Amino acid sequence: MKKWAIILIIGAFVASCGGDKSSDNQSSEPAAASGPSATEPAKSENPSYDPTRGSGKFTKVDVSPTLDKAMADNGEKVYSVKCSGCHKLTDERLVGPGWAGVTGRNTAEWIMNFSTNTAEMLDKDPKAQAQLEICLVRMPNQNLSDDEARHVYEFMRKNDGVK
Ligand code: HEC
Repeated sequence: MKKWAIILIIGAFVASCGGDKSSDNQSSEPAAASGPSATEPAKSENPSYDPTRGSGKFTKVDVSPTLDKAMADNGEKVYSVKCSGCHKLTDERLVGPGWAGVTGRNTAEWIMNFSTNTAEMLDKDPKAQAQLEICLVRMPNQNLSDDEARHVYEFMRKNDGVK
């Protein structure tokens, strides 16, 4: 309980966490294999890293232009149990960024890799690190199955207005 209160109080002092402004704060990320001059944030740190896809098992996600309602419904259930404690469906931050617009900010592959391979993405990914600097909490791995990750992604699309 107290922990939440503290998080919320911290939250009140920090600017909105939803935007995709990649701030250029110097970060103290662990960057194990640190690039040449680590003063520049993100991007060029690891040339083999693909920031549109992120790192993880999902390389190509098939997404139909229309919503798969069954998947979205199941994704909503997963959301209520495992994600809603930290993510709102609006653009308002709770512990993590609100999910409004999240499918426009990131690719399906990125989102599903982040959802299932969270720790590694937080170590490597410029956008994830920018969010971490704002949110100040490392999202814990939620142990999603591949299907759950796909279904939650479909629910995010529904939340972003896909019909
Ligand atoms: C304990 C809090 C917490 C829970 C539970 C949580 N997250 Fe997160 N999530 C965060 C935080 C905090 C961030 C921002 C990055 C960071 O600081 O780790 C984030 C970021 C994200 C992002 C990137 C959002 C963006 O706008 O770039 C996605 C996608 C995401 N979470 C998916 C999920 C999914 C899917 C679940 C449920 C299965 C979930 N999260 C559960 C805290 C949480």
